[in-house]
Amino acid sequence: MVETISELKTRIDDYLGVNLAADVDQDTLYSSMRYSLMAGGKRLRPALTLATVQMLGGAVDTDVMRAATALELLHTYSLIHDDLPAMDDDDLRRGKPTNHYRFGAGMATLAGDGLLTLAFQWVSDNKLPAATRAELTLALAQAAGPAGMVAGQARDIEGEGQQLDLDQLRYLHRQKTGALLRYAVLAGGIITNQSRPVKAALADFGAHFGLAFQIYDDLMDVLGTTAQMGKAVHKDAGEQKNTYPGLLGTAGAKDQLHQALAGARAAQTKIGKLTGRSFAGYDQFLAYFKL
Ligand code: IPE
Ligand code: IPE
Ligand code: MG
Ligand code: MG
Ligand code: MG
Repeated sequence: MVETISELKTRIDDYLGVNLAADVDQDTLYSSMRYSLMAGGKRLRPALTLATVQMLGGAVDTDVMRAATALELLHTYSLIHDDLPAMDDDDLRRGKPTNHYRFGAGMATLAGDGLLTLAFQWVSDNKLPAATRAELTLALAQAAGPAGMVAGQARDIEGEGQQLDLDQLRYLHRQKTGALLRYAVLAGGIITNQSRPVKAALADFGAHFGLAFQIYDDLMDVLGTTAQMGKAVHKDAGEQKNTYPGLLGTAGAKDQLHQALAGARAAQTKIGKLTGRSFAGYDQFLAYFKL
């Protein structure tokens, strides 16, 4: 059975809402972690993992839920730290005041630290086979750490005020946002123990989807509204961020978005050919990009 994104989102929200408390032993830290985690994210990353598991014929039990929702803990940490005064200095996230605005920069930093660390606990502390847990843990570390998302964030802040070229910007976006989305899809292949070529094709879909996701985020900073996005818009240019519309204009950025989506669709077809299964379930994720 393949559930819709909205069905998966409900299950993800429920799992997170019920299970966070057991692993946090300080009241303010718990409030701060829970505040951002339950503030209303789209849950696209764990939903991608779970949909991938289901399209590959796997079942979503509580151990798969724990391993998959770990990524939402980690993603939420990345948002809390991204918003800090020393980073993007944002006041609004997921339609609510940012964590540091509500709890102070010290507690927000620790809430992020807690969510990051707890993600590795959840991905390793479940009843999936030991080899699966080890492979997920390594892949998550590679995606999130100093060769993945953190490296992208470093390029992002260092790039403020200096103009990167398209190759450099694509690399930055693949790291800061693409790496976690690539992992989200790959994790579904690891959980269901797929062959190396299938995992490579899944990772390819996730990487293209992830690049498209950040190009779209850049575009929505220009074209979207605060109400729609739940965060401030029209900020990137003032902060001298390197973005696709900043480098290529809106039309050029849309063209690059369509190229990334074409790459994702090609990978979607390839996964179907390799497995003999339908991956039409990815269409609902690709429908996120509305231009
Ligand atoms: C926001 O991610 C940060 C980027 C990588 C652009 P999402 O748009 O998935 O944010 P939430 O989780 O729904 O709040
Ligand atoms: C992606 O970049 C953020 C992370 C990798 C956490 P942005 O800084 O553009 O994300 P938003 O726009 O603040 O959500
Ligand atoms: Mg940022
Ligand atoms: Mg930001
Ligand atoms: Mg942005």
